[in-house]
Parts: sequence; structure tokens; C-alpha cells
Amino acid sequence: MEDILSGWKRSRYCGNLTKADVGREVILMGWVLRRRDHGGLIFADLRDREGIAQIVFDPAKNADAHNKAEAIRNEYVVAVKGEVIPRPEGTVNSAMKTGEVEVLVTECKILNRSKALPFTLDDYVDVAENIRLKYRYLDLRRPVLQQNLILRSMVAQITRQYLTENGFLEIETPFLTKSTPEGARDFLVPSRINQGNFYALPQSPQIFKQILMISGFDRYFQIVRCFRDEDLRADRQPEFTQIDCEMSFIDREDIISVMEGLIAKIFTVAKGVDVPLPMPRMTYAEAIRRFGVDNPDVRFGLELVELTDIVKGAGFKVFADVAASGGIIKGLNAKGCARFSRKEIDDLTEFAKIYGAKGLAYVKIEEGQWHSPIAKFFSAEEIATMNQAFGAEEGDLLLFVADKPKVVNDSLGKLRNHLAGILGLSDKNTFKFVWITDFPLLEWDEDEKRWAAVHHPFTAPMDEDLEKVESDPGSCRAKAYDLVLNGNEIGGGSIRIHQQHVQSLMFSMLGLSEEEARAKFGFLLDALECGTPPHGGIAFGMDRLIMLLTGSDSIRDVIAFPKTQKGACLMSEAPSPVDAKQLRELALKVTVKQ
Ligand code: AMO
Ligand code: AMP
Repeated sequence: MEDILSGWKRSRYCGNLTKADVGREVILMGWVLRRRDHGGLIFADLRDREGIAQIVFDPAKNADAHNKAEAIRNEYVVAVKGEVIPRPEGTVNSAMKTGEVEVLVTECKILNRSKALPFTLDDYVDVAENIRLKYRYLDLRRPVLQQNLILRSMVAQITRQYLTENGFLEIETPFLTKSTPEGARDFLVPSRINQGNFYALPQSPQIFKQILMISGFDRYFQIVRCFRDEDLRADRQPEFTQIDCEMSFIDREDIISVMEGLIAKIFTVAKGVDVPLPMPRMTYAEAIRRFGVDNPDVRFGLELVELTDIVKGAGFKVFADVAASGGIIKGLNAKGCARFSRKEIDDLTEFAKIYGAKGLAYVKIEEGQWHSPIAKFFSAEEIATMNQAFGAEEGDLLLFVADKPKVVNDSLGKLRNHLAGILGLSDKNTFKFVWITDFPLLEWDEDEKRWAAVHHPFTAPMDEDLEKVESDPGSCRAKAYDLVLNGNEIGGGSIRIHQQHVQSLMFSMLGLSEEEARAKFGFLLDALECGTPPHGGIAFGMDRLIMLLTGSDSIRDVIAFPKTQKGACLMSEAPSPVDAKQLRELALKVTVKQ
């Protein structure tokens, strides 16, 4: 039987045709996006991964091809042979990359048919995400998603090239492994050969990359999948990809400068955006003070204002009581927002309450006066001092939260981003980076009543804080750093502990007994005693990086086959029940009703 392509070879991608091709014969292959029958001429948009070309069937030129065109429907797969011609005057489509030309078809092959689709593949049509994910093979045909994944592939290539040129070796680490503590729950895999035992899928290759440093590989990288069983959000997936790096015989400055170079390269090559280096830096303490969060969006101002000292003695009981009990009062000047209605301010209050605020006091600056239910509690002098602290001007809206520091910073910090969205200050085409440094080493976990590592248990304390790790854990800082882009944490890393006694101390601070530490990390503790070089590294969240590069709202739009909020793949219907036989082989019994 004759091969369906009968020797035809595609000569060009549809999306790449330009005026320079006029007069050439081309062979295109792709999907029919739409067909328009002008009762004589038939026009179709033919689509492949590079874009769309208009093809024309003229019964006067080729009756056979025109007959076939009459049978063509949306998403049929066709091959056409024809001549590239300029579009007639007045029909040039400047919105289309190939809009100056069309292909006059001389031969046409229908390679396959398609049934009517559950949704049209136009980028402009809004389709519910669960439908898109169920029919992901169709969704992925849409030009936006094709462009996202093409850019993603490009970023992977730039990364490999840059890191290889800088002496990094690409080394794989196992997926079937032991628990790696990054703060989420593990996904477990039962072992058939060792019944009753489980592998954990890695939350990151953290321990393995450190072991590779101990083994002398010196500079490692991997574009690697990580697995974390945590609550999902727009920027979180249960399996996601890291650009994971580790270096030996280096300090923080070495890591930051190599990694800034990588990010700048990615932005230049993939996006044509120049990233000024060195990138700005800010300590964790400064970020919390000025922005309330450790991932500040520095594209806009709207900084938080510290007011505790000004209001602690004032007549407003809510503020005075909070100050007296060790809390703080901070505010934020929503510039020009005095025009907000009661309803809009109530919405802001509800938003702040999500993050624990008990209320959101507000002041409108109108006709040079404070207009507010709380104005009466403050003296003219206190009002003047606050106006100055806020830089308040006519038409501004001042917002206040009084509470424990964590609640105040969280709620105002999140409100700041929310307001920036409302005010249109978060321009997707502006890229502002900032390194956050000097994170705390440990934080008190109220639920578990123990200290927890802010980064992970392998992060080194600052040298000057090492001696107070036991006596004053909460005040110790870590040699950790995050890279933040437009309010998103796109990477995090640290200088590691390379001495066994410090690592043991850290495990005991985290509430692990010596036996537990041995059982979980004995191999690391042993390796640390066998000649460990000073080392450190970082991992970038590749999905988040691509999300920001492509201006997508969710990392699901830059992952070919993502999971839903409930961790499901709607296309393949994972997770799903398994056969009783499989369970027996694994010696597992399921007790939930299925
Ligand atoms: P960390 O836990 O900070 O560090 O992770 C590094 C980066 O990975 C991204 N990220 C995620 N992206 C999508 N979905 C998720 N569920 C998710 N979780 C994290 C973030 C984050 O900045 N081993 C250390 C790195 C090191 O110390 O070298 C680690 O994994 O962008
Ligand atoms: P009340 O005295 O409860 O009527 O509150 C007066 C104003 O203060 C209202 O606008 C409340 O939203 C606000 N408010 C109450 N508690 C707090 C708080 N902890 N922080 C900031 N504002 C608050």
C-alpha cells in the first residue's frame, strides 16, 4: 500500500512563511484551524507549532484540490503543495506573522479527519480549565501553550549551555529514595521486593547533591523533577521542576554571581530583556519591615509604615492595647484611593482578615482632613506625625492593622500586592529581581511545639551566630538566600553545614534524637566525617520562572501535563484505584471505601 505521504516532505513550517517566500513552491502540513467557503474560493488557516498560514483553493486553478477542500473540517490534518503568493491589496493581515502572504494550493492530501471538538482552539475563547485539562491533547494545540512550551525548551537549553560553560556537570540522582526534608509531606512508593518498606519520592535532590560535593564533583547541576505532597496553589504543583545546582570551595558571593549570570542569560536569550547586574539585595529583616513578606514585589512602592511608637499612647484603645501587649501597628498608604466606596473598603477588610487581621482601620484624606471613624481618637499632633510617616497627600487612603507582628506583616504585605493588582501597578513586562539574604535559621512551630528549619536542616548558621544556636535559637541567622522576581520566590539556596558536629547539633535542635538522626541521615553524618569541602548551592523553580517569562497566571500553563488543585490528572485520571492483585503483591490493604 502506498504511504499516506507518498514521498511528500514538508518544506516549511506554516508559521515561518514571509514575503521572501513569494514565488516559491512549498509543502505545508498541519491542522485546519478554520475554513471559509466564499462560494468559489475556499480559504483555510493551516496551523503548526510555529504558527498559522492562510491557504487558498481556487476551483479555476485546481478543481481536484478544491473538491478536497470542500470536505475539510476544523482540526483535519492536511498536507498541501502550492505556491506562496502575496495577498491581494487590502487583504494583508498585519496581526498575523504570515499575514502578507498566502499559499495557492495546487495539490492537497487529507491525512486524517477529526470529529467535532468539545471546544474551539481559538486562544481568545475562554474554556473552563477542567475541560482544557481533560482534553489536554487539544488544549496543547493552542498557540499560547505551544509558545509556552517552546520557550520552556529554550530555557532548558540555555541553562545546560551556560552551566556547562561554567564547569558544571549534569548528574542524575534517584527518584526512588529516602525522605528528604524540604518541609512538605512525602509521596511514598511501596516496595514489592521489600514488603512493608517504602521509598519516598525526593522533595529535592538536596542530600544527593551534597554527597556529590563530598565525592569531589565540584560543580553539579540537574534539571530535575521534585515531588511534594502539599496544598496546591497557582504557583505550586505536586511535581515540579528545579534547576538544581551545587558548588564546592565557594562562598555566597560566588554562588550569587554565577546564578545571576544564568538568570540574566535566560532573560536576554529567551525574552530579549536586559537584566542589570548585580541584582539588588535586601536582608530578610528589611523585607519584612518594608514589605511585610519575604518575597517582596519591588515593581511598586506602597511600602508599609511603622506606627507603633506614634500610636501606643493615643486614645484609640484597639491600638493602645495591642501595643501594650507586645504587638505592633503598621499602615500602608493606598495612594489616591480616598475615592474607594464603603464596599471597596469592606472588601479590603475581608481580604486582610484572610491573613488573620481582626480589622482594617482606614482614613481618607479629603479636603486636607482625616475622614475616618478613628480620627476622633488622635490629637492634631499625632495625626500630623502619622501624615508625615505615610507621606499622606490629598486623596490618599491610609490603612492600618494592629496585631502580633506576624499577623500585621502578613496581612498588610498581602494587601499591598492585592492593592497593586487593583491599581494596575503589577506590569507583567517589568521584571524586578531582588535577592533576600540573612534569613532566620529556625522558627518555632506552634503546632508541633518544636523548632523547625526555615530553609532546610542542612543550611549553615551564620558564623557569628553559631554559638547561640542552643541558647537563643530564634535570633540566629542562616547563610540562606532566595531570589525573588516580581513578588515570586523563583529560587532558594544556602551555604551548607560541612562539619559533622554542627549538623548533629542542628538535628538535635530540630528535635531529632541521635537514633532518629542516624536512622534518617546516618549516611550523610558518616560522609560529613570523611573530608567534606565547604559547599553550597541553590535551586530555581523552573515552572515559576517560565510562568513569569511567559506572563502566564498559573504554572499549569507552562507544564505540559499538570495536575489540578486536588492533585489529579484529568486526562489520564490519575490517581486511581489499583487491582487487588497489585495490592496483595505489595502486602498492602486499603481501608478507605472506594
Ligand atoms: P526550595 O524548597 O526553596 O529549595 O525550592 C526551590 C524552588 O523551587 C520552587 N518550588 C516550587 N515550584 C512549584 N511547585 C512547588 N510545589 C514548589 N516548591 C518549591 C520555588 C523554590 O524557590 N533543596 C533546596 C534548594 C537548595 O538549598 O539548594 C530546595 O529545594 O521556586
Ligand atoms: P471598632 O472599635 O471595633 O468599631 O473598630 C474601629 C475601626 O478599627 C474599624 O474600622 C475596625 O475595622 C478597625 N479595627 C479593629 N481592630 C483592628 C485591628 N486589630 N487593627 C486595625 N484595625 C482594627
